[in-house]
Amino acid sequence: MSLPKVTVVGAGQVGASTALLVALKGLADVVLVDVAEGIPQGKALDMMHARSVEHFASTVTGTNEYGSTAGSDVVVVTAGLPRKPGMTREDLLAANGAIVRSVIAEVRETSPETIVILVTNPLDVMAHLAWRVSGFPASRVLGMGGVLDSARFAYFIADATGAAISDIDAVVIGAHGDTMVPLPRFSTVRGTPLSELLSAEEVAEIVRRTVFGGAEVVALLKSGSAFYAPAASVTAMVAAVLGDTGAVLPSCVLLDGEYGLSGLHLNVPASLGRAGVLSIPEWDLDAAERAALHASAAGVAETLASIDLGA
Ligand code: APR
Repeated sequence: MSLPKVTVVGAGQVGASTALLVALKGLADVVLVDVAEGIPQGKALDMMHARSVEHFASTVTGTNEYGSTAGSDVVVVTAGLPRKPGMTREDLLAANGAIVRSVIAEVRETSPETIVILVTNPLDVMAHLAWRVSGFPASRVLGMGGVLDSARFAYFIADATGAAISDIDAVVIGAHGDTMVPLPRFSTVRGTPLSELLSAEEVAEIVRRTVFGGAEVVALLKSGSAFYAPAASVTAMVAAVLGDTGAVLPSCVLLDGEYGLSGLHLNVPASLGRAGVLSIPEWDLDAAERAALHASAAGVAETLASIDLGA
């Protein structure tokens, strides 16, 4: 039985980890692309050596050009610079914008029907830029931010409550940055909302650690940003798309009036399947949650207004 094809652009920390997870789970054959000569080929070969140990059916190939990526079902874009200590995701704007432009120009030609999932930061702006440059319908260009932020939120909730991680449903929406909006009212431990389990101070501390979860990793690593949880998060999105599951995952999608916002990509719960974004079910946010989402959107809109979005 032939597997779907997933291209991962960028064979660095996030890209290689994603390729390995997709392969280990047998979700698809993987093509790993990078501008660095030998890196995608070497990492792909190394992963293929693991096949007889892990018994996965997927193949992984590495390349510096897009010919063998043709007809990909999903393209995950991780190409770009990661943060260094003290940098915000916005500091990456110019360099990563140019990289995303060049990657999308290739993808548009070689895989015109694909679903594109951006991971490159600053995520919300890169997802919107990729959509504009691609000319694809908005349902086929999305970004990974909300799944990761929600996973971090869940980790800190587990840490504070002692609950099993599998008993926790946590949700973060908004920009994948300092203005992200964790939603304690919609985040539950065995079905009970966090806001009913912990004091307002305890919740505030968990929210703070969630917002700075990525920066905490950057500060420790000193030479790059997080990659295991980002790779796991984008792999979950790939699985939902390829499996056509309709799973509702916080995803960076184009808003067109939902939550009173439009003309930008932002993380909100979205149902994902074979066609990409299947629907954006609008959650019933209260006034404070909605105001926080709008404030987060305003920051993204400001950055978008400062860059050239032309194709
Ligand atoms: N095409 C393909 N690959 C590219 C290109 C390009 N035009 N430009 C750079 N790359 C590659 C680099 O050669 C490198 O191998 O992207 C890879 C990035 O890998 P890392 O430096 O290890 O960065 P990583 O930690 O994987 O983060 C990548 O994801 O989470 C975000 O903020 C993070 O924007 C960053 C991206």
